[in-house]
Amino acid sequence: MQLETARLVLREFAEDDWRPLLASHSREDVVRYLTIEAMDEAAAREYVQGIMVSARELPRTVWDLAITVKGDDTFLGRVGMKRDADPRGAMLWFALDPAHHGKGYVTEAVRALITYAFTELKLHRVWGDCDPRNRASARVMERAGMRSEGHLVQNIWIKGEWCDSLLFAILSSEWNV
Ligand SMILES: CC(C)(COP(=O)(O)OP(=O)(O)OC[C@H]1O[C@@H](n2cnc3c(N)ncnc32)[C@H](O)[C@@H]1OP(=O)(O)O)[C@@H](O)C(=O)NCCC(=O)NCCS
Repeated sequence: MQLETARLVLREFAEDDWRPLLASHSREDVVRYLTIEAMDEAAAREYVQGIMVSARELPRTVWDLAITVKGDDTFLGRVGMKRDADPRGAMLWFALDPAHHGKGYVTEAVRALITYAFTELKLHRVWGDCDPRNRASARVMERAGMRSEGHLVQNIWIKGEWCDSLLFAILSSEWNV
């Protein structure tokens, strides 16, 4: 499966992607608000293997795609989603190499994934969450057209502390209206 935007190709992970994934996901600042820990080589290889296995599952429930530059396949980061217990909903996530922050790449990738979710998968609702301190993440979801749905207080334990979550969501009926 592959999605294209003006500047990007969102493609399936390949085995060698563990290298650029490690470059960003070994950084504490990149995983600061993620539930995963900073990766070493073994963890990056294992993560990519896991993504490749889940991509082959039928019916598919997880899409974790490499964000790459159209034309030269430079690896920028990842964007993904997982179906909810009710498979007509899905939760999305994203992370970008800091070398490429501030160019709107992730917002562009999230929009493409939401479009795919509604047009191809016929989903009803796509949602995401982030720590309120992660302003860049909240802005990405806002700019992608997602609605603020609430503020959960200390609902998740991440890296040694209870953290709050901001919820964002969009319905198929709200997409492209
Ligand atoms: C979240 C993340 C993908 C955003 O990447 P990005 O390249 O900065 O995203 P964009 O360029 O598309 O837009 C980011 C928006 O946040 C804003 N922003 C960026 N850093 C910010 C900060 N530290 N404080 C406040 N706003 C910030 C930008 O100005 C922009 O908003 P604007 O359109 O109003 O100017 C990136 O910071 C990242 O990978 N973080 C680590 C992983 C992560 O936390 N993922 C999300 C988990 S919920």
